[in-house]
Amino acid sequence: MSLNLATVSKIYGDRTKHPVHAVREMNLDIDDGEIIALLGSSGCGKTSTLRMIAGFESVTRGEIHLAGKRIDVLPPAQRGVAMAFEGYALYPPLTIAENIGFALRGSRGDTDKQVREIAELLEIGAFLDRRPNGLSGGQQQRASLARALIRNANLHLLDEPMGQLEPQLRAVLRGRVKARIRERGYTAVLVTHDQGEANAMADRIAVMYGGRTMESGDAEAIFSSPLHPYTKGLIGCVPNIEMDMERLVSMPGSPPDLVSPPAGCPFAPRCPKVMEICKTAVPPLVAHREAQQAACWLYDEKHGSAGSPGAARRSEGENADG
Ligand SMILES: Nc1ncnc2c1ncn2[C@@H]1O[C@H](COP(=O)(O)OP(=O)(O)OP(=O)(O)O)[C@@H](O)[C@H]1O
Ligand code: SF4
Ligand SMILES: [Mg+2]
Repeated sequence: MSLNLATVSKIYGDRTKHPVHAVREMNLDIDDGEIIALLGSSGCGKTSTLRMIAGFESVTRGEIHLAGKRIDVLPPAQRGVAMAFEGYALYPPLTIAENIGFALRGSRGDTDKQVREIAELLEIGAFLDRRPNGLSGGQQQRASLARALIRNANLHLLDEPMGQLEPQLRAVLRGRVKARIRERGYTAVLVTHDQGEANAMADRIAVMYGGRTMESGDAEAIFSSPLHPYTKGLIGCVPNIEMDMERLVSMPGSPPDLVSPPAGCPFAPRCPKVMEICKTAVPPLVAHREAQQAACWLYDEKHGSAGSPGAARRSEGENADG
């Protein structure tokens, strides 16, 4: 089903004392049957976004709609959303088979067969009789993913679903998980640090930084010709897209303070192209190419050096230090 986030914000904690601005005015539109990946460094607000969609965190401001119906006011059970949690969230007393089948309780059909089928797809068929504490982190992670994928839900939210796996197994399972999502016509939001995974699995990418969307668009365009200086730096930090390590540490500077976030662009303190306007005004997320949007003053007609027609195209190939 289609998903729409309209200027969604999440502030944790006491609003007068040290509030954490985890997600800021996030807009996101996902079509029915589409897979979108949220990509960004640790702490940029990916999990908070998923947890608001699922209903495990309240929305501070903004609205979330699923298939046109407002859901941020509904309890989680009424949203029909399946989630693979970053921390797995398996029930310790239940076996892996019971954990996976839990989502199908009360439904008709051969539940055991469905559990075996998804477990084999994710290479955990041999562990169905064990309990979570008898499994490795990677095996528990796949059990959590199986529990989400077995459900014929309105929306699937997958939070770093393969982050604990060996690169080879991860590469195999990416293909299988994507095929499963496509076969069933699921709509999915994938959260990942892994650019290779995002590129292999997603139709579209939203790049987040400091709780905001920096750039979004078709996966191919984002990886082959990113517009935003942060995206260029992020992609430039990983020389080979198949490498699965986050190397943002090699980008100079540190992530923004979310308690006292910068007034303007969150990337301004680290951006090699920073201008005066960047320090005081938040750049809107605007389409600069077909199917590619960026939130950056560089592409603004009035303020930016790249703001003239065709500038987005000319900027291809530049990197963040360029
Ligand atoms: N319950 C909470 N209370 C206060 N702050 C929180 C809470 N949950 C998350 N945060 C903060 O909100 C910010 C965004 O966290 P979030 O978990 O959404 O990031 P993330 O992009 O998923 O990071 P990672 O890649 O490390 O999982 C972080 O600064 C985090 O410390
Ligand atoms: S808005 Fe300014 S600071 Fe932010 S990425 Fe663009 S040029 Fe850099
Ligand atoms: Mg997270």
